[in-house]
Amino acid sequence: MLAQVDDDGDLRHLLTLEGLKAGLLDAILERAENFLTETGQLARGADELRGLTVANLFFEPSTRTRVSFELAAKRLGAHVTNLEIGSSSTRKGETLLDTFLTLKAMAVDIFVIRHHDPGSTELIAEHADASVRIISAGEAHLSHPTQGLLDVLTIRRHKGDLSTLKVCLVGDIKHSRVARSAGQALTTLGVGELHLVSPETLLPDADEFPAAVLSSDLETGLSNADVVMALRIQKERMAEADIPDDADYFRRFGLTREQLAIAKKDVIVMHPGPMNRNLEIAPDIADGQQSVIEEQVRNGVAVRMAVLALMADR
Ligand code: NCD
Repeated sequence: MLAQVDDDGDLRHLLTLEGLKAGLLDAILERAENFLTETGQLARGADELRGLTVANLFFEPSTRTRVSFELAAKRLGAHVTNLEIGSSSTRKGETLLDTFLTLKAMAVDIFVIRHHDPGSTELIAEHADASVRIISAGEAHLSHPTQGLLDVLTIRRHKGDLSTLKVCLVGDIKHSRVARSAGQALTTLGVGELHLVSPETLLPDADEFPAAVLSSDLETGLSNADVVMALRIQKERMAEADIPDDADYFRRFGLTREQLAIAKKDVIVMHPGPMNRNLEIAPDIADGQQSVIEEQVRNGVAVRMAVLALMADR
């Protein structure tokens, strides 16, 4: 694995949260806090990226993550260019690398990349000049580092010390890069208990989440939970036979008022989006008092500002 951190401990690339030290994750989260006001609104940046160019290269569809990176970079004074490249016209590796080399020749400083192939962001980072920075905006089912960070930021802002918390992720864990990155961040930062709940066919390999409790029983996961995050059913990554029946899925794994009654009274409800109402979550829960889904979106901009700003300090 390519080094994401240089000899001084500074962040060079952000491809995955796996292997990053707690101190560095804390530094990113603290910087993100500085981009939020006391009431949790987004603060203005101070032109940290003035004179730098950021390119968003998205080889998979995205709304919130792409816009979030764009707004984060603009708030810091960067020039931003966006490329949304239909995955159907790309050929593995070669096209991605060619696109990268073309943009590199136009003096892009920071690349934000979302790609469906495992290893894609590392391939690009290996070909980057010393001054160029690469940030993953989601790679295959494997990692989505800024999403993991914004989830932890949202949890910390509500609940403080992670070590006393029970966090439950429910949904399509097997195909979820969000679960992997959030799980890694929570584990590195010492979460009390991490429960992963999904249908039997959508459970991941246990060795991918060594510190978590895996089950197909939502009650076990939700009982006394401080935090619950529903994850999208990623039908596009599934074999036809593994796609669960919608009504059956909602009955067993959907977040409803009845199900939430077994969690702690002050449980917070999260979802990385895009969410399927009446499948993963009941509308009254998605829009209810316990939901922090909009805060996740707002905190996402702050986290991306923090990562970009740290990379611009050089
Ligand atoms: C997620 C993604 O693309 O990995 N969405 C996001 O970035 N907010 C989750 C998903 O697509 O289900």
